Order: sequence, then C-alpha cells, then structure tokens
Amino acid sequence: MSESVDSNLPQVAAVVILAAGAGTRMKSRTAKVLHAVGGRSMVSHAVRAASALDPQDLVVVVGHQREQVIAHLEDVAPNATIAVQEQQLGTGDAVRAGLAVLGDLAGEVVVTSGDVPLLTGETLKQLVAAHRQQRNVVTLLTAVVPNPRGYGRIIRDGDVVARIVEQKDGTPEELAIAEINSGTYVFDADVLEAGIASLEASNAAGELYLTDVIAHARQQGGRVGASVLDDYLQTEGVNDRVQLANLNAEFNRRILDTWMRAGVTIVDPPSTWIHDDVDLAQDVTLLPGTQLYGATSVASGARIGPDTTLTDVEVGENAVVVRSHGSLSVIGPEATVGPFAHLRPGTWLGAQGKIGAFVETRNADIGAGSRLPHLTYCGDARIGEGVYVGAGTIFANYDGVSKHDTKVGDHAFIGSDAVLLAPVTIADGAYVAGGSVVTDDVGPGDLAVARARQRNIEGWVARSRPGTAADEAAKTALAAREESE
Ligand code: UD1
Ligand code: CA
Repeated sequence: MSESVDSNLPQVAAVVILAAGAGTRMKSRTAKVLHAVGGRSMVSHAVRAASALDPQDLVVVVGHQREQVIAHLEDVAPNATIAVQEQQLGTGDAVRAGLAVLGDLAGEVVVTSGDVPLLTGETLKQLVAAHRQQRNVVTLLTAVVPNPRGYGRIIRDGDVVARIVEQKDGTPEELAIAEINSGTYVFDADVLEAGIASLEASNAAGELYLTDVIAHARQQGGRVGASVLDDYLQTEGVNDRVQLANLNAEFNRRILDTWMRAGVTIVDPPSTWIHDDVDLAQDVTLLPGTQLYGATSVASGARIGPDTTLTDVEVGENAVVVRSHGSLSVIGPEATVGPFAHLRPGTWLGAQGKIGAFVETRNADIGAGSRLPHLTYCGDARIGEGVYVGAGTIFANYDGVSKHDTKVGDHAFIGSDAVLLAPVTIADGAYVAGGSVVTDDVGPGDLAVARARQRNIEGWVARSRPGTAADEAAKTALAAREESE
C-alpha cells in the first residue's frame, strides 16, 4: 500500500467484527474463531488489530456457538460490545445486527472478520488513511491473489470499484479476475446505515450481502475505492483446518523473522514455534525443536533446546535449558536445566542453580547455586543457597490427603536416595546420610542417619548357596587372601 500512515488518526466511530458464521468446514465442537493462531484465538487477533484504531466502539457480532465466543470475549476483549445475530442470514444481516447495538453513529465504521488472523492493526490504519485521502464513502481492502476461488471479485470502473461479484453469482469472465474482496472495509456511517436498510436477498445464496451496499452507495453518488494490499496473506481467512495449519505456519514464520532480525539465533526455523506474546532478548539461541509459548521471556545469552517446550517461563541471562518441559516457572541467570527435566508450575530456580536429568519440580524455590543434578522429585520445597541434593532424592510432599512443605537450609547436603517426609526442616549446613527416610527435623550442622545399621553375616553364601558361581568366586577370593597373608 502506498498511502502514508497518519499516526494521529482521528478516532473511527466503530469497528464491527463479524464472527457469527457457522464454520461448518472446521468440523469442530469449538467455534471457528476460537481456534488458535500463534497461540491466540483468531477472534483475539481481530480484536487486537481493531484496537490499533482506538475506535469509540468495538462490536463483535456472534451467533453460532455464541456462548463459547461470548465467554472468551469477556477474557480477551472485556470492553467489546456483543451483538447477537440470531440467524446467519448473510454478512449484510450480520452488520445490521452490529449496528443495532450502537447508538447514533457519526464518522466511519470499519467492518472486518473474526477469521483473518494475519491482518494487522497497521493495515487497518492504512486502510482508514486511504479512505480519507481518496474521499471515499466506502473503501475496500483488496488483494491480488494466486487463487481467487471462493472470494468476491472486484469489478472496477477505472480507479473506483463498481461492484463485487460473489463466486456463486459470477460469469466466467468475472470469476477470472484475481483482485478479491478481503472482507475488511471502511464505510462512512450514514452510507453504511442507508445501504444496510436497502438490502434484499436477490442472489444465488439467498443471503443479505454486505457487498451490495457498494452498488447502493454508488447510486447515491458516493465514491467507492479500494486499497490493494501487497501482502495478500494478511487477507486470507480460515475455513478449514488445512488453512488453519497453513496460516499458523505463516504466522510463526513472521514471528521468527522478527526475532531473527532482532538478534535471536534460530537454528532450525521450521521446527521452532514461538507464540505471539513471547519476549526474547538479543543473542538468545534457540536450537531445533524449541517451542516457546504464553508469556515466556528469555534473557540475553540464554540457550534453549533442542526439543524444549516452555510455557509462561522466565529464563535468565546465559541460562541453558536442554530437552526439557516447563510451565509457570522462573529459571535464574546462568542456571542449567535438563536434559529431560520437568518444571511444573511454581518452580523458581536461583542463579547458577541446576535442575538436571530426570528431575521433576513443582512449587519449589531452589536457591542460588543449589543443585538437583539427577533423578529427583522436588515438590513444595524451600531450598536455600548452595544446597546439594543427591541422586534419587524424593521430597515426599503428599500424605494422601494434603501437601506439606520441606525446608532445606543453606549449604545443606542431602545424600543419594533420601526421602524427606514433609513437613520437615533440614537446617543450614546439615547433612542427611544417603538412603535415609527423614521424618524429624535436622539441626544446623547435624548429620541425620535414618536407616537400619548394616550387618554382614559371615559365610552365608557357602552355607546357603553352595556350588553356585557366587560361591566359587567367593572361595577363589578367600583362597587368594589367605595366600597373600
Ligand atoms: C464474504 C464476502 C466476499 C469476500 C469474503 C472474504 C459477502 C457477501 N461476501 O464472503 O466478497 O471475498 O467474505 O472472506 O460479504 N458472517 C456472519 N453472519 C453471517 C454470515 C457471515 O457473522 O450471517 C461472518 C462470518 O463468520 C465471517 C464473515 O462474516 O467472519 C464472512 O462470512 P463468510 O460466510 O465467510 O463470507 P463469504 O461468503 O466468504
Ligand atoms: Ca469466508
């Protein structure tokens, strides 16, 4: 688009997002506009793009599966006004339902769809700017696409748009036109209101077509223009799950490109997925098979992957996370995680700490420099600094009814295969002997040994397993010992 963007646009009167359609081809229990692209629902993309215009009113027209859509909108667009279209009688009827919830309108109304997830707020701003510059009463966002099938085609009369012909209604010559109606428009409010009032279902589909407003506006002497978007993928809608996957992949590529241009190394873009709200610093490295979701943030110099999924995780500077799965957790600067670690919600790992191979954590504060290198379950734990937790240690936090905390003080040492039976406190500088089941608190600097003392029964194999390989081996060793004495 050539029009310049005016950063101080006057407010538009309203944006109307159409989201009442049945979405039959999705074959889903979930409403079409709730399916996700880049980790967010398609309707939330439409809402976010619309918000860039800062409209006086934002209206979402819902119909099919509307309970789901309304509940979701309460989350993602609490300020939106909901309009219900009882029966899906066409896009013109949907806009009529949208206008019905608005008072007297003066200015411009932008109409767009809830199922075009790549459309940006910047594009909407440019469309409004074009509308004003061209002094149009209606401005269509159009694109020239490789495969126009299914879309309304733009019939031009020189610089202006004469009308739109739908797939079902077009002649072969009209259907050969590659410039399509994206389904996003700017209308002067009075022209839209008059046009909607005049609609009749005189077409092959028996629907009220929003696009018929164009002919009406022209009859009244208004100028209908178009703004052609070079980036045609922004105008693509989702009707089935093949298109959903394609647009997800395209959206992801766009996000990855942005991060790579911002100084992030992405070794294998096709296997790397980054959601829209993730934040990455310069000199982050993402290895193949990495997925960063939700509000995950990664600080400078950190290395994630391969094969790692983090959702709502904060990763500190120069931390390393290898082949792991984490959610709602904090990984401190220069800490290391994995391979094969599972960080469940509420894990907080301090600077230079370590959560190693086959370790699962949940609601656990692990102080700076503390290490859980191998095969541990650590739940409901408050661990100080410089603690070492030996292989196979279990923080037994659940008694079958409720959960309890375990406290481990600074520089404590837990031997391998200990079970810390919560609630229990291991004080600063205390030691726990390997294999102990610790049920009582351990004082500062004390050693807890909580297991049966070892006893060796001499000659047991010769008596109870005579003639076995073990017996032979033992006899040979005993004879050699005797000889050397
Ligand atoms: C419409 C346009 C077509 C354009 C295409 C772009 C008309 C007559 N045609 O066609 O020119 O190329 O969009 O995708 O407008 N909706 C409702 N209520 C309804 C019908 C539709 O809310 O009764 C919503 C749908 O949920 C969707 C949008 O309107 O978000 C477009 O509807 P859809 O049925 O996809 O329109 P098309 O026939 O594709
Ligand atoms: Ca469509």
